[in-house]
Amino acid sequence: MAASVLASDFTNIAGEVRRIEAAGADWFHLDIMDGHFVDNISFGPAMVAAVKKCTALPVDVHLMIERPEHYFGRFQGADNITIHVEIAGDVAGTLRAIRASGRTAGLALSPDTPFEKVEPFLGGIDLLLVMTVRPGFGGQKFMPETLEKITAAAEWQRRHSREFLIEVDGGINTETAALAAGLGASVMVAGTSVFAAPDAAEAIRSLRVPS
Ligand code: DX5
Ligand code: ZN
Repeated sequence: MAASVLASDFTNIAGEVRRIEAAGADWFHLDIMDGHFVDNISFGPAMVAAVKKCTALPVDVHLMIERPEHYFGRFQGADNITIHVEIAGDVAGTLRAIRASGRTAGLALSPDTPFEKVEPFLGGIDLLLVMTVRPGFGGQKFMPETLEKITAAAEWQRRHSREFLIEVDGGINTETAALAAGLGASVMVAGTSVFAAPDAAEAIRSLRVPS
């Protein structure tokens, strides 16, 4: 369960990270948006460093930016870095560079991008991020039409005997986590449903063992 910091109270980031870690999160997920690749600006390397200082949990950085090959090295403290397949640059080369820097490498695809677009890169990734909303904002509604890409990814792994984590991101709550997990997703990113829950520990439990 990867808690998306975008949904936290930025006036108290240390307290929020400690609260959600104590509630049982496994990873922290940080959404980096540059106002070009997506129509929003979130935060940058300083926020990743601040979160890293407050937790021993793995930090999962989701780059929704142009030129990730140029910027990824600045995210000190990132354990995994995920780039989007829709970028204009060299996807395979950037994934290789991320791995060469000692981090794991993730590849994300937006809802309008067909599974076939990521296929050429699946041999060189640690994680596939199937976006279940259009990237750019927290608090959006889960798009069920994205589910078939989880099935396609799980089938691809079986056919090729290769393994990578399948992560879903956007509109994840108890119900949608159960749908995604049933098809083969194992990493649930959740922002709103965890940070805004009256009982964060209960919200996290309900994602981990979907009822
Ligand atoms: C959207 C981000 C998500 C977002 C999820 O572009 O990639 O990580 O924070 O937020 P919720 O869980 O509120 O949909
Ligand atoms: Zn994200």
